[in-house]
Amino acid sequence: MKKVYIETYGCQMNGHDSERMLSILTGSGYTPTENPKDAEVIIVNTCSVRGKAEQKAYSSVGRYVELKKLYSRFNASLLSPHGNDSPRKQDKLIVFSGCVAQQNGRRLLGRFKDIDLIVGPSQVHRIDELIDQVKSQVKVRTPVVAIESDTEQKRFRNPVQDVHGVKAYVTIMEGCDNFCTYCTVPYLRGREVSRQARSIIDEAYALAGSGVKEIILLGQNVNSYRDDSEGGTITLYELLSMLNDIKGLERIRFITSHPKDLTDKLIRAFVDFDKVCEHIHLPVQSGSDRILKLMARGYTTRDYRDKIEMLMKVKPDIAVTSDFIVGFPSETEDDHKDSILFIKHANYDNIFSFRYSDRPLAKAGRFENKIDAHIIAERLMAIQSEQLGITRRIYGSLVGTIQHVLVEGKSKKPDRIQGRTRQGRIVNFEGSAGAGALVEVMIEDYSDNALYGRCIKKEEQHVH
Ligand code: SAH
Ligand code: SF4
Ligand code: F3S
Repeated sequence: MKKVYIETYGCQMNGHDSERMLSILTGSGYTPTENPKDAEVIIVNTCSVRGKAEQKAYSSVGRYVELKKLYSRFNASLLSPHGNDSPRKQDKLIVFSGCVAQQNGRRLLGRFKDIDLIVGPSQVHRIDELIDQVKSQVKVRTPVVAIESDTEQKRFRNPVQDVHGVKAYVTIMEGCDNFCTYCTVPYLRGREVSRQARSIIDEAYALAGSGVKEIILLGQNVNSYRDDSEGGTITLYELLSMLNDIKGLERIRFITSHPKDLTDKLIRAFVDFDKVCEHIHLPVQSGSDRILKLMARGYTTRDYRDKIEMLMKVKPDIAVTSDFIVGFPSETEDDHKDSILFIKHANYDNIFSFRYSDRPLAKAGRFENKIDAHIIAERLMAIQSEQLGITRRIYGSLVGTIQHVLVEGKSKKPDRIQGRTRQGRIVNFEGSAGAGALVEVMIEDYSDNALYGRCIKKEEQHVH
């Protein structure tokens, strides 16, 4: 039995690339395994968004290269010279994929000469033929490198197979044209390419048909989705409108939104389409206008606040989440205080905060006045504790309310079930509802990252 092991780092886009590779390989006879020792093919799907992520990629690949060496020695010593099996046949095949693969390409072979295949993000749809190409070499294995950027629609190829889950990710666009000064993503994922709406809708129908209740539309900058291929223009609003009509689907989300491209029309989607959930991840990055300008984000704190106000006006129960970068070059104590103040007023459900990290090709690497690591650590803690108070306040205010929860499966704790509200908040509760059920839960308690309650009613499923 051919087995494949995948290890994934980075964003949901990259996570979905892993799912796609797995699904393609399952179609060509592989079965997934959780144990790299059992795997014939080991894929490390890497991320380069921060220095730490890049380092993780190397140490992980390094580990598997060692495993491969160990196994090929072991196999060679076990096999009789007259046996039918050759040691070559038992070799592990190591695949280095994702954003670090794209960043370094062939240069990686200098560091890890035992890798067999290097695959960039826009080539993952070819994973099966690329692996075959490696395997078809009879005597000496020469590594295969596939990192050309591909702007064709076929890069979105995604055989929908083996979907057992309640929710599924659907890529709607790839790449980014924004070039925020701290970010390496546009250099690695290339320019924006939108997937044809027809293909997205077909995939969503297939998913709904296989029992998926929630779809999450993915792209580095989904707000600039645009398909002109069939006469008129289809923006994210029109796409949501079409997806909203799919029978069986209950919930639709989309990530990631860029504040400068969040139009009034798109904000209307939260009102116009009942399946579009009341949650938006809208990364602000900083609460200081000076820093936002240096980051080249294309909006001011005022613009951003106006958008949140508008969102709250049309959907008072919407949950907004955000990202912050702490310690961007030249960030002063005042800039930092502006971010804290911003958090106080934004009423975020939650935020992700990251230490600024210099990235290859990103302009800010050349900016002056880099901030000391210990100052960054202090500011990070201040930001996180400010947000924690707000998250607790919001979660606390939900005690005593009834929430509509889509069950995702068993919770880590025994006899408990886990699901999410439309706002994306995790709810743990006692009950017997199976994955995919929609239930009403009375909230009785909360922690820093979840709500707790008891199921009071199984809901009727929508009939559209
Ligand atoms: N396209 C999305 C996500 C980009 S990467 C967006 O525009 O929001 C996810 C997050 O990583 C970013 O929102 C940012 O907060 C963080 N990030 C990106 N580059 C970084 C860097 N060089 N140092 C620290 N954090 C970074
Ligand atoms: Fe990076 Fe900015 Fe593009 Fe997001 S919008 S991927 S942060 S360049
Ligand atoms: Fe990382 Fe690439 Fe995503 S750098 S965050 S895996 S686009």
